[in-house]
Amino acid sequence: MKFDTPAGQNPIDQLKVVGKPTDRIDGKYKTTGTAPYAYERHDVVANQAYGYVLGAGVAKGRLRGLNVAAARRAPGVIAVVSTLDTPKLGLGRMNTASLFGGPEIQHYHQAIALVVAETFEQARAAAYLIKADYASEPGAFDLAAAAKSAKPVEGGSGEGSGSGAEDRTGDFEKAFADAAVRFDETFTTPDESHAMMEPHATIAAWEGDKLTLWTSNQMIAWSKGSLAKILGISAENIRVDSPYIGGGFGGKLFVRADAVLAALGAKAAKRPVKVALTRPLIANNTTHRPATIQRIRIGATKDGQITAIAHESTSGNLPSGRPETAVDQTKLLYAGANRLTGMKLAHLDLPEGNAMRAPGEAPGLMALEIAMDEMAEKLGLDPVAFRIRNDTQVDPGHPERPFSHRNLVGCLEQGAERFGWSKRNPTPGQVRDGHWLVGIGMAAGFRNNQLTKSGARVRLDAKGIVTVETDMTDIGTGSYTIIAQTAAEMMGLPLDRVVVRLGDSDFPASAGSGGQWGANNATAGVYAACVKLREAVAQKLGINSADAVFADGEVRSGNRAAPLAQASADGDLSGEDSIEYGDLSKKQQQSTFAGHFVEVGVDMHTAEVRVRRMLAVCAAGRILNPKSARSQVIGGMTMGVGAALMEELAVDTKRGFFVNHDLAGYEVPVHADIPHQEVIFLDEVDPMSSPMKAKGVGELGICGVGAAVANAIYNATGIRVRDYPITLDKLL
Ligand code: MOS
Repeated sequence: MKFDTPAGQNPIDQLKVVGKPTDRIDGKYKTTGTAPYAYERHDVVANQAYGYVLGAGVAKGRLRGLNVAAARRAPGVIAVVSTLDTPKLGLGRMNTASLFGGPEIQHYHQAIALVVAETFEQARAAAYLIKADYASEPGAFDLAAAAKSAKPVEGGSGEGSGSGAEDRTGDFEKAFADAAVRFDETFTTPDESHAMMEPHATIAAWEGDKLTLWTSNQMIAWSKGSLAKILGISAENIRVDSPYIGGGFGGKLFVRADAVLAALGAKAAKRPVKVALTRPLIANNTTHRPATIQRIRIGATKDGQITAIAHESTSGNLPSGRPETAVDQTKLLYAGANRLTGMKLAHLDLPEGNAMRAPGEAPGLMALEIAMDEMAEKLGLDPVAFRIRNDTQVDPGHPERPFSHRNLVGCLEQGAERFGWSKRNPTPGQVRDGHWLVGIGMAAGFRNNQLTKSGARVRLDAKGIVTVETDMTDIGTGSYTIIAQTAAEMMGLPLDRVVVRLGDSDFPASAGSGGQWGANNATAGVYAACVKLREAVAQKLGINSADAVFADGEVRSGNRAAPLAQASADGDLSGEDSIEYGDLSKKQQQSTFAGHFVEVGVDMHTAEVRVRRMLAVCAAGRILNPKSARSQVIGGMTMGVGAALMEELAVDTKRGFFVNHDLAGYEVPVHADIPHQEVIFLDEVDPMSSPMKAKGVGELGICGVGAAVANAIYNATGIRVRDYPITLDKLL
């Protein structure tokens, strides 16, 4: 189905199932430990052996030799795969460095060997008997130092966003020099780790030249194509299966070493092999959100109209790696006739930088939305009013492009009302509660909505059960549930008459889970397949599909009504299709919006920060399932608190690796850190996004939260911290 004109009335608008707060279908399996994760799929293939990945012990240099003799003789060892005996592998989609390094070592813990043994412990013990001989070379590991020689670079986090090296509108320098009120400061954000619960893990098995991987991956079609390139085999011979995933956050958008080495290990061992990456390998072998240095300049008239805005960001990556696109939201969020955005990329020899939840906007808004708070204060304006004054209904760099639907103002106004913003004391350091200094802060949230092709097939059986099959993944987001809701609405069935099967590359290729595009695109693909199935049903029943109504388990047309299952009484009926998009998203800018409000307490004596309450008001098109959407937003808000207060990969700038490479050293918020959170969705639809009229929320939830926390800390204490995370040493 081609979607190139705005959606009119359609069956989804009935909202009998879609739009209802519905428990996640997979929820009980996940919370009772019965959803099998990749490493636990003992039943899929017999005789599984265990692989253990050995990562390089230097960050840069050459691997001169790899002595695996002792490992081969160790108890229980079945095979040892050495990179020095393996032909050079290709690069998969979004891979910056080879997933099997050597002889050139590109980053610390780049995989160099795999040991396969009867047990995990035997494989691990044998791996430590491997002697690697390195010719180590000096590398660049310090972003602040490397930034001096950073080069202008074009953007693209690799998951859909794209930016020119430098974007200009009007004459920024002149307008900024002429502005009555000016702001010019630099902000820094650290390297961050996805820290998902389920590690990267894969079981691989060969049958002749056919390879099956049971793995944990967000993007099934991407990974199938990538594995073919990396291993040099035909994609037709690869099956990837990933029905349950314990979190990804962008860390599982692409194939990583677990999948590639499980495949190589299974070939060498001549039996199925399972590989999980250990926590230290997740930090240094896989990807992370790159650190940034961001300079923001804003010029405005005395009454608070922005006349000049510039955002420049520097990040680092391996050669051929991409920049963190932290300037993306600044192109679109606020009005202003004279604009400049630009990015520079420094060469770093740290592990691969890549996408993590809302790449670009998440760290970009951590800077921009403090800058807006500081500018409002300079102007003597309320921070909410300052943002509303500079709202824009068109892409400010391309005024001929309107937003498809934009209600940032509604988010800010409702948020202010619900949070009690008018009671805030704008003078910092004035409000006390015992030994706590109390402050309130806010920020705008912004994340783009991306349209991408997505397919599905649906089948109606003789019992009247509809089964949906698509390679869409559920990374904890609720995909099973919203897809079931979509099919139920389209076919006029209750939810318990729909079965959803996901994550198998034998099913039609979907949009996958990334860039908060999963919900809108994957359900739109199911919508398209259901249109085909409705046509097949109508034809079978001899009625006109154009005026057929599917409701209450029946198909009605004029004064006729037949049970849906009558159509499939003598054989299953099916429909398969994809949603494909024209250039609607080029003509109109599609984005999602939020207002984030946060109250913090800061201990007067220790400077310990405690978040006391949080509110997000979101405008993101139709909300398909308010319950799972709320869960996505509070997850994002929680991650935003982590980014504001504690998350930071500590770089060893001499040896070139992330030191705090586990969940003891890499701190993320726990329940005790998170107080009352409230989420409000504005009641809206966006007919430009798809027949579902929905947009994404999974990444919107984090966007702006870090700055809202920082602004609340400033309101509590009068201390401005522009260097994240805001640990207590920066407040003393
Ligand atoms: Mo997202 S960072 O595209 O999973």
